[in-house]
Amino acid sequence: MEVMDSVVEEIKKRINIIDYINTFVTLKKTGRNFKANCPFHQEKTPSFIVSPERQIWHCFGACQEGGDIFKFLMKWEGITFYEALKEVAEKTGVKLIRLSFEDKIWKKKEKLINMNFLASEYFNYLLLKTDFGKKALEYLSSRLIKTPILKKFGIGYAAQSWDSLLKFLKKKKFSQDELFESGLLVRGERGDYYDRFRGRIMFPIKDVRNNIIGFSGRSLGTEDKSAKYINTPETPIYHKRETLFGIDLAKEAIKKEKNAVLVEGEFDVISPYQYGFENFVAVKGSVVTKEQLMLLKRYTNKITLALDKDTAGQEAVKRGLSEAESLEFEISVVNFDYAKDPDEAVRKDIDTFRRTIKKPIPIYDYIIYSAQKNNPEDDPFSKKRIAEEVIPFMEKISNPIVQSYYVKKLAGILNVSENSVELLIKRTKYKQKEKQRYKLKQKGADETTREVNIQKYLLSLIFQNKNPFGIANEIFQIISPDDFIILSLQKICQNFLAFINQSKNAFNPSQYIEKLPKELLPVFDELYLFASSDMEFENEKLEKIAYEIKKFSLKRKISTILNSGIQITKNIEDELKEIHLSLKKVEKKLVTL
Ligand code: CTP
Ligand code: MN
Repeated sequence: MEVMDSVVEEIKKRINIIDYINTFVTLKKTGRNFKANCPFHQEKTPSFIVSPERQIWHCFGACQEGGDIFKFLMKWEGITFYEALKEVAEKTGVKLIRLSFEDKIWKKKEKLINMNFLASEYFNYLLLKTDFGKKALEYLSSRLIKTPILKKFGIGYAAQSWDSLLKFLKKKKFSQDELFESGLLVRGERGDYYDRFRGRIMFPIKDVRNNIIGFSGRSLGTEDKSAKYINTPETPIYHKRETLFGIDLAKEAIKKEKNAVLVEGEFDVISPYQYGFENFVAVKGSVVTKEQLMLLKRYTNKITLALDKDTAGQEAVKRGLSEAESLEFEISVVNFDYAKDPDEAVRKDIDTFRRTIKKPIPIYDYIIYSAQKNNPEDDPFSKKRIAEEVIPFMEKISNPIVQSYYVKKLAGILNVSENSVELLIKRTKYKQKEKQRYKLKQKGADETTREVNIQKYLLSLIFQNKNPFGIANEIFQIISPDDFIILSLQKICQNFLAFINQSKNAFNPSQYIEKLPKELLPVFDELYLFASSDMEFENEKLEKIAYEIKKFSLKRKISTILNSGIQITKNIEDELKEIHLSLKKVEKKLVTL
């Protein structure tokens, strides 16, 4: 471990956390520190703070997490510490050769990646070198895919057999569990295993670092009744939401062109690639996820959507839009109206394809244009409908210059003043805000009500119990008086605990009341009755309620510190970390109760 520490120190000396994180998210200076909108959750006000002096980061918002440069990369890329270390070390020129330590998670990932690699070689061999792959090869050539491109994408063929891959991998000395974990096999009802992919053209799916993390398999014929595509299920290395087919080959071109073209399917990446369009990636299906957008954000601020002509594709444009807008992408759209998808388009007419892809339509023009197409009549109602279709999108435009440009444009189309368009936008915005505020208020109110109620309920049960001292002893191991939100409840608790210490006999409410300060009497009375009057928590375990009170209290402590506006010193940071650690423990415990 000592070697490790010194390597870590050496790397940190050579790289500045501000510069490093700045390549992922734009940091703004604020006093001694830097801040940004947290890249790990969606937020409007920045709560992601990086300290150059301490070379650490922390999110004070929803994540409540932080760490050093390695922790950042681990979280950003969803990789293990060892992988992050390797990546940063490479960047800084620190050598890791003689460093040997176990990283179990990474070892496991490496094994699965290796297994996928062997499988892809096997599929590849079947396609290119054997008679089994003949039909598949014919199919691919009917779609005009040439051999060099087959090799470039590592395309293969899975034989029409239940155990051909299974047998092949077993010879490679993988355990049954490992084989199953890769997603390459399916477990039958009787606990037997068989190949998931049978009689299919196989596309390896890779991550940005060129590791094969999964496969998609396309059936050969359309007459076939089974699914056209079958994909690797979620595994320790394959997460659909985070994956973009083709990113390994496209990333350099995306950087160079400062633009990524998003398409739906594998062939929509492969065909254009063959004609020299190398910055295409596929979302595989139609909805663009936030994770995929964040992956692209590393390489570019611009995306062009080139989705299928059908309506599902067009709907996806609009659904992905607000995520992309909040990540500040410049989004454009291309339409190949002479073909059903980019694959067909590039093969049918390469010149039109090239011209179209060079002149993408900004997304908002596209939205206005489709609204006009949907409402072609030249009357006031039609204009109203156009406005209704378009305004919800214009309201979301974050850049004021871009927004006012479209205000003008829409006003011109509707033949009304810019003021009335602006008014409509304002109204929509206001409505959205009100909705959100209402939701937040509801949530806040509900939480506080529950917090107060379970506290009263807990105390009430203690007082009503035949052996209040017994359960009080248990409960006050979990919580303490200052975990209660209301001062009077805190005082009652303190009082009660003092009473327990003095009194050796059974609990007698009237004796207890005598010791109670007068002003607390009504509180006690209410408590004494509370549990009987309120049936809401009837079936909840006492221990669970106690832990829940603890959870609320710890959360409140954190937000009190953060909202106090004091400088976050090392001590306070440590304190926050400690509270956060306790909170994690409590939350873990709550899951088990
Ligand atoms: N897809 C999938 N599972 C399915 C259907 C589709 O994962 N059952 C994904 C595939 O990545 C596919 C993409 O969605 O490439 C687009 O699907 P679709 O439009 O149905 O494919 P086509 O373009 O018709 O497919 P191909 O080009 O292979 O003929
Ligand atoms: Mn297609």
